[in-house]
Amino acid sequence: MASTLSLTQALLFTTASNLLRRNSLRTTVFSASFSSSSALSSDSLHRKKWAQPVSSLLELGGVAIAKDDVVRDDPTNNVPDNIFSKLGMQLHRRDNHPLGILKNEIYNYFDTNYSNKFIKFDDLSPIVSVKENFDDVLVPEDHVSRSYNDTYYIDSQTVLRCHTSAHQAELLRRGYTQFLVTGDVYRRDSIDSTHYPVFHQMEAVRVFSLNDLEVSGTDGTSYAADDLKKCLEGLARHLFGAVEMRWVDAYFPFTDPSFELEIFFQEKWLEVLGCGVMEQKILKKCGKENHVAWAFGLGLERLAMVLFGIPDVRLFWSADERFTSQFSKGKLGVKFKPFSKFPPCYKDISFWINESFTENNLCEVVRGIAGDLVEEVQLIDSFTNEKKGMTSHCYRIAYRSMERSLTDEEINDLQRNVREQVQSKLKVVLR
Ligand code: PHE
Repeated sequence: MASTLSLTQALLFTTASNLLRRNSLRTTVFSASFSSSSALSSDSLHRKKWAQPVSSLLELGGVAIAKDDVVRDDPTNNVPDNIFSKLGMQLHRRDNHPLGILKNEIYNYFDTNYSNKFIKFDDLSPIVSVKENFDDVLVPEDHVSRSYNDTYYIDSQTVLRCHTSAHQAELLRRGYTQFLVTGDVYRRDSIDSTHYPVFHQMEAVRVFSLNDLEVSGTDGTSYAADDLKKCLEGLARHLFGAVEMRWVDAYFPFTDPSFELEIFFQEKWLEVLGCGVMEQKILKKCGKENHVAWAFGLGLERLAMVLFGIPDVRLFWSADERFTSQFSKGKLGVKFKPFSKFPPCYKDISFWINESFTENNLCEVVRGIAGDLVEEVQLIDSFTNEKKGMTSHCYRIAYRSMERSLTDEEINDLQRNVREQVQSKLKVVLR
């Protein structure tokens, strides 16, 4: 990882002083919402492999962050404790973790095919400004991804990045023209086996000078689009060998044309990455007139689930030896052997919703109580009483541990808590 640079100190809004001054795929989010379809970086902490940042102070990119820099009882803040505890885990920097193994294998592909020209970043702070996360990549003011329902806000101007595209503009401004950014990203979302509020993405950007292209006689956009698809098809073959895949047209505010790559896994088409030709406006604003560029963002968990046969996204966070011991540095695609399958337990909850009710808010409450013991929250019934003008929802919650059998008592406690908090926090009326 010697070639991995750390720019964190230098990046906007990532210094402690800035934080303090400011009071301080479904598929990828952007496909869910933009297109059709969902650190402890200090060396010392890093060496303690599986240590959770339980202390009230953690370090991100060399900057000390106190818990109340991130989690605050303030209407402009919606970061819960369980999300704070994931900050700084940096699973993608662990060489023996499926995500680290996959990251390194993608690095290998780029190093080999582009003679080490892509500069790698994997330690940029996930705390970014609204400007970086949204404005710089042309996300419209009224776009759903900006809502408190979809994104974790630290305050009105600071978020936990919801995609690694948040670093595109800054790195371009700093003069980088070929780079990879890997990092943890955060999104409020529903709960099932492929969605977790924290996951990992790798972003790639490649810039071409139009002056160079004139020689080849093609227009810049098609040149970049062709180069992009060639790069990604090569990467997919490098990682998967033979796998069924397809290109789907997509929409992202920051690219045009835009595409998604889907892979067939467990009887379903799974979106694993979004990509496209970068909007000229972004390049211009970053001082790159007369250039054309492509970008892609891929979800590491999605790919790793397919490559290692990992059935549930929660497993990536497991510290259970029976999981962690199955993976080792440089060994991509060793199939995960489930150590045992523990029975799920289903509990239903029904209530009359109100105007502000959203499924993401419900899932946040459930996750806050049950943590990784919740496997899925699924709407199983909805009806409207026309006379009363009220709508009732029934959700089925699947509780299941990846590591052990849960007792009835434990599940009943969780469910009792869920019922209480759904009522008190979401202000809905239980039935
Ligand atoms: N940022 C997009 C997402 O998270 C992915 C993407 C990156 C798409 C770069 C196009 C270009 O869904």
